[in-house]
Amino acid sequence: MFASKKDIVGIDIGSSSVKLVRLRESRGNYQLVNLGIMPLEPETIVDNMIMNSSAIVDAVQNLMAGMKIKAKRVATSVSGHSVIIRKIMLPIMTEEELESSIQWEAEQYIPFDVSEVNLDFQIIGPDEKDPSQMSVMLVAAKKEYVDDYVAVFSEAGLEPVVMDIDCFAVENMFDVNYGFADDEVLALVDMGASAISVNVLKGEVSVFTRDIQAGGNLLGEELQKRLGISSEEAERAKLGHRDIEDVDPESIEEVLRDAVENLVQEVQRSLDFFSATSTEDKVKKIYLTGGVSSSKQVCETLESRLGVAVEVMDPFRNVAASDKEFDPEYLKAVGPMFSVAVGLAMRKVGDK
Ligand SMILES: Nc1ncnc2c1ncn2[C@@H]1O[C@H](COP(=O)(O)OP(=O)(O)OP(=O)(O)O)[C@@H](O)[C@H]1O
Ligand SMILES: [Mg+2]
Repeated sequence: MFASKKDIVGIDIGSSSVKLVRLRESRGNYQLVNLGIMPLEPETIVDNMIMNSSAIVDAVQNLMAGMKIKAKRVATSVSGHSVIIRKIMLPIMTEEELESSIQWEAEQYIPFDVSEVNLDFQIIGPDEKDPSQMSVMLVAAKKEYVDDYVAVFSEAGLEPVVMDIDCFAVENMFDVNYGFADDEVLALVDMGASAISVNVLKGEVSVFTRDIQAGGNLLGEELQKRLGISSEEAERAKLGHRDIEDVDPESIEEVLRDAVENLVQEVQRSLDFFSATSTEDKVKKIYLTGGVSSSKQVCETLESRLGVAVEVMDPFRNVAASDKEFDPEYLKAVGPMFSVAVGLAMRKVGDK
């Protein structure tokens, strides 16, 4: 009758769809139990803000019911400009000491009133140059914003026990599937429908994060605007179809080329900013995910513009999946959209 204590469902509320993943873990080995995706109408979430919560509640409930999932505990995540992630320097202190002073310490680093945010932190370690100081990853998320996401789950009869940040979920997924190499500087880039998140890591430590408010939607919008086609036609063109009435394939290519160029430039700007403001080495490799990473053109343009190797991550690389239950071709095709949900499903109750 009771779901196992460990049983936690990863649910990623993306702006274009809700993704659900459930894994079974035993001694660090993962097996895929459930996988589901439910599309959302375009205006359901705008700028990461929930505009139509009942549509999301419906999507979540449909996913759970469709797969007959009884578990109630959910790991989910938020992202966007209501979430601030910042690496700060503080005098060396214990976790407990920081716990009691974090409100006060955080005040000067976040642009919101501390009473309006949920605060979290992770001590990274002593500073290399000044051993009396330590670096700390500070995370602040606006309460009213997080509360909207929590409310969706309550309404769906679920209990969000882990509230994560999208880019940390991807980091978690990467750790399990690829593992961190010592001191190598790499970027995890999630290109979704409405946002691109960039997370630069050195070894297993995140040294720079940035959310860009542009994504796959931009490609569709450009196609619509410049070719005067419907949003459905634009979505099909984006996915590689060229049989759009009264539109010659060459012009589709041209619009896509320009729009992809714009997205890639945004990523480049973030990485340039990182290089200019950090003492760390340059990014050696980009690991890409999110629906947009299914576009070959995006990968190739990133690689040639930035001059670094680009690899599309497979969130199921180290996750066993039965061929009978999950078509390998399907898993491969949808994989990029599930990175956040897989990372969430790997969380345990009690994780921050
Ligand atoms: N082959 C493809 N080429 C280009 N874009 C694609 C392709 N496949 C999917 N996409 C785009 O990927 C996006 C969906 O990706 P994803 O599921 O990662 O986004 P999301 O999590 O819903 O959005 P966000 O995280 O930005 O809120 C859509 O914009 C979709 O059009
Ligand atoms: Mg997403």
